[in-house]
Amino acid sequence: MAEFKLPANSKIVSGKTYRDATAARLRTVRVYRFDPDRGGDGDDNGNSNDNGDGNHGRNLPRIDTYQVDVAACGPMVLDVIIRIKNHIDPTLTFRRSCREGICGSCAMNIDGVNTLACTQPAAAISGDIKIYPLPHLPVVKDLVADLSNFYAQYASVKPWLQAGEPAPGRERLQSEQQREKLDGLYECILCACCSTSCPSYWWNGDKYLGPAALLQAYRFIADSRDEADGERLAQLDDAFKLYRCHTIMNCTKTCPKGLNPAKAIAEIKKAVAKR
Ligand code: SF4
Ligand code: SF4
Ligand code: FES
Repeated sequence: MAEFKLPANSKIVSGKTYRDATAARLRTVRVYRFDPDRGGDGDDNGNSNDNGDGNHGRNLPRIDTYQVDVAACGPMVLDVIIRIKNHIDPTLTFRRSCREGICGSCAMNIDGVNTLACTQPAAAISGDIKIYPLPHLPVVKDLVADLSNFYAQYASVKPWLQAGEPAPGRERLQSEQQREKLDGLYECILCACCSTSCPSYWWNGDKYLGPAALLQAYRFIADSRDEADGERLAQLDDAFKLYRCHTIMNCTKTCPKGLNPAKAIAEIKKAVAKR
């Protein structure tokens, strides 16, 4: 029988427990912590990870537990994390910028679902709030996943309008119907929630472009002002880049902006077949 061995640092151990200074309405928040650059044992506060489980001396990912006073912060999970960072444990690392669902930088796995921390109400989660980085990506630190490959794949679809020369003396006009074709596409904020929820992307993320990059590719294919459809479709007509999508639909289910990447992928497949 085949035997599979997980890498040593795939084992997650229990970390430390921290408690807020105030306690009007405490909630338990369990957060994934890992710093791949740290050698040996210990957390960022110099505490040992040794909990008697025989892993002493190894830099393993851990789950830290925070008792957070949610009466002292805003309603979203991002507010809770910022409360932890500012008042309980300044070593916790995560990305955020706009705090209103526009920039995509606070994407993480909350309560088992890839979503945006800034638009996810903490009150909508029952029991402990469990927070992990986006799945199946290398971890830079704690909740920050490495999106280098994701952005390279986005760049590979040439996400800009390619139109003929010379440029007209005024803007390129679209009819209302032509413009409507971009609805459900232009709103993508490149948060990566969809791609990192896709099993095909987990297994073939180096070659399969994934739902986010493919939705972005279709955004330009569908644009009446773009004149590079032929090259775009030829580039995507590939067993891995496009056809690794097996219509599992996790992408559409998880998109925090309510978009439908699976439909965009189906449209690309139709357009390729029609060429
Ligand atoms: S399609 Fe949705 S989930 Fe995917 S990157 Fe765009 S906004 Fe995020
Ligand atoms: S529909 Fe395609 S892209 Fe979306 S989750 Fe399924 S396999 Fe991945
Ligand atoms: S902080 Fe910008 S989308 Fe959440």
